Amino acid sequence: MASSPRNVIYLTPSGPLLKSISNPYAPVDAQSLLLVSYSGINPADIKHATLGLHSSVAGYDMSGVVLCTGPSSPFLPSDRIFGLNPAFPNRPLYMGAHQDYAIAAGRFWYELPGEGPLAADGLFSLLGLGFPDAGIVGEEKQGVVIWGGGSTVGVAAVQLAKAAGHGPVFVTASRKNHKKLKALGADYCFDYKDGDVVEQIREAIRGCGKPVRRALDAVGVGSFSEREEFGRSSPGMAAACLEQEGGVELACVLPVKADARYKLCFATRDPESPLPMARMEDPEKWYGMQEKVMAWVVKNYGEGKYVGCPNITVVKGAEECLEAMVRSAEGKSSLEKIAVEHSL
Ligand SMILES: NC(=O)c1ccc[n+]([C@@H]2O[C@H](COP(=O)([O-])OP(=O)(O)OC[C@H]3O[C@@H](n4cnc5c(N)ncnc54)[C@H](OP(=O)(O)O)[C@@H]3O)[C@@H](O)[C@H]2O)c1
Repeated sequence: MASSPRNVIYLTPSGPLLKSISNPYAPVDAQSLLLVSYSGINPADIKHATLGLHSSVAGYDMSGVVLCTGPSSPFLPSDRIFGLNPAFPNRPLYMGAHQDYAIAAGRFWYELPGEGPLAADGLFSLLGLGFPDAGIVGEEKQGVVIWGGGSTVGVAAVQLAKAAGHGPVFVTASRKNHKKLKALGADYCFDYKDGDVVEQIREAIRGCGKPVRRALDAVGVGSFSEREEFGRSSPGMAAACLEQEGGVELACVLPVKADARYKLCFATRDPESPLPMARMEDPEKWYGMQEKVMAWVVKNYGEGKYVGCPNITVVKGAEECLEAMVRSAEGKSSLEKIAVEHSL
């Protein structure tokens, strides 16, 4: 039970470790207590320690069976749900994903599989694109550059951009991923390791016959760099692809230091969050957008319009979970979602 000694993956300031805890967990308000079936691995599970988000159970997304609920939870015992808990300093232990019992808190919980809050934030909130089929009003039929289509954020963005009717969709990824990304909605693929990749994309944009002013950087490699180094970072290169078009609108999964105009995608935008980057002007509008996109994803999941991440790797137990967390934080997971099968 959620009060007896059990294993968790605990994130210390210097990295994750296996720990035993026996803290009792009891859901309040809209929370639900979960028996975790799978937790999802993300680079942030370890990388967030450098932002001061540590000393808690690691991990953000998970799926499981509801055991009991707070009085205003939208779920019932035995519902199978999945979702994402928010990140903030001194997060209670019960919110971490890499443990066998956890509490689902916040508004990112759903009854069926799906993904993509970050990609949706970038495309439909920060870049102002529309998604008519999901009921989201915005610019329609726009060309867009998605830098890092081989990341799990990128592969969700490619599918959502296509489903929303945008194009051409210009995507960067390693060559081995191009075929799959084209099948999922990329119109043109480029290898970001080519020395002239920016020029290749600029030429393709010139040839497509319409202006392309928007880019989503789904990897944020070198996003903290400045001056001449910024030109070699992924946000710097993504922005450079668009410069010929005049205005550049860039959303990035990590904060871009060199240019404050470039907006930061954030997976959860808790209005109460103490992190300044997580605040937003209109929380209801933002959550409304996310809910519409997730409703569309849930409806179309596996139906050919949205397949999620094409490669799922399942690891088992605490040791494999720790190894996979390191692999992901080192950027070695390619067009792949790693799920940890519980128990730990
Ligand atoms: N802001 C937030 O709330 C938030 C939340 C979650 C994650 N993040 C951040 O979002 C980023 C992506 O997370 P993820 O889970 O999607 O990552 P991931 O799946 O681990 O992405 C790894 C892939 O990124 C691609 N990549 C690496 N360097 C690249 C570069 N210079 N240019 C283009 N592609 C490159 C590679 O694709 P190929 O195999 O094709 O080479 C690699 O396989 C991470 O930096 C993470 O920290 C932010």
